Amino acid sequence: MGRVKLEHGLVKYIADDKIYYVKQHFDPSLMPGHSSHRFVVHETFFSYGPIERIVSLLGIGRVNIVSVKLEHEMDLSHEDREKLTELVGPKFYFSRAAYQYDKNSLPHKDPETAMGYQVVFDTVMRNWDNGERNIWYVSGVPVWFDFGASLDPRCHNIYRFLLKLQDAADTGRVSSIKRYFENFSRHRNDILNRAISMVKSITLSEIRTIVDVAEDRYAGYFAEYLAKNVSQIDDDIDIMRGAFLQKELESDRSLIYTSIPREVFGRQVK
Ligand SMILES: Nc1ncnc2c1ncn2[C@@H]1O[C@H](COP(=O)(O)OP(=O)(O)OP(=O)(O)O)[C@@H](O)[C@H]1O
Ligand SMILES: [Mg+2]
Repeated sequence: MGRVKLEHGLVKYIADDKIYYVKQHFDPSLMPGHSSHRFVVHETFFSYGPIERIVSLLGIGRVNIVSVKLEHEMDLSHEDREKLTELVGPKFYFSRAAYQYDKNSLPHKDPETAMGYQVVFDTVMRNWDNGERNIWYVSGVPVWFDFGASLDPRCHNIYRFLLKLQDAADTGRVSSIKRYFENFSRHRNDILNRAISMVKSITLSEIRTIVDVAEDRYAGYFAEYLAKNVSQIDDDIDIMRGAFLQKELESDRSLIYTSIPREVFGRQVK
């Protein structure tokens, strides 16, 4: 049996020395103004447990992120469940405390590498909310938590995702993606390329299995969403690089055109 703790308005659940933050789960809400049948999925997903679970299952071992568990995976006693219902709400899920991770158990021990891999991974997940408010540093190494903004149907289009990153930055939530491109370098570009290879190793059957484990209502939709993003990750990262490196263009065009054959931009590349 675990222990439920309320600390500074946040609810924690502790079992076998593992600390979890307990988050309220909300069912999807209807997207206002889109009654048309042109959209496959009409809902928006906010604090929707299965999305965080999918992201964590795909990312553990690949990027520095925390593990997320759904309610039925936690072996809760009747009393635990009642107490959590009272404190959090009728439905909830669990996010493992980032500060409990040990630097040596994380896939990336170098902060810059960790960030570059996160940029590519979160582009696949369309997670724009991966800035400082959702990072914990263990011995200087970032660990990301809170993937609730991921897989939003409205951000599937990469240009919509870019607009969302810009909007979020305008309201003070600067994503790790934007920050990564601020001090872009050849080294950072190499990290991105390695991370792209890592993403490309995700197979369709892994996506299907993971989505099936975490999600029962929209499994087909999320599997398709992810499969498409994995297959076009090179192009998407090129678009991100192009968008964020506008200012660098004049000083070093080669940073932008590194992954495009020279002959295509023959005269522009110095
Ligand atoms: N897995 C975790 N590890 C460490 N801290 C966490 C974790 N999950 C939640 N927290 C803490 O709880 C706070 C709120 O959680 P969360 O980020 O999930 O909600 P939020 O509504 O997005 O809040 P915020 O606007 O701060 O991002 C975080 O700012 C953080 O302090
Ligand atoms: Mg958050």
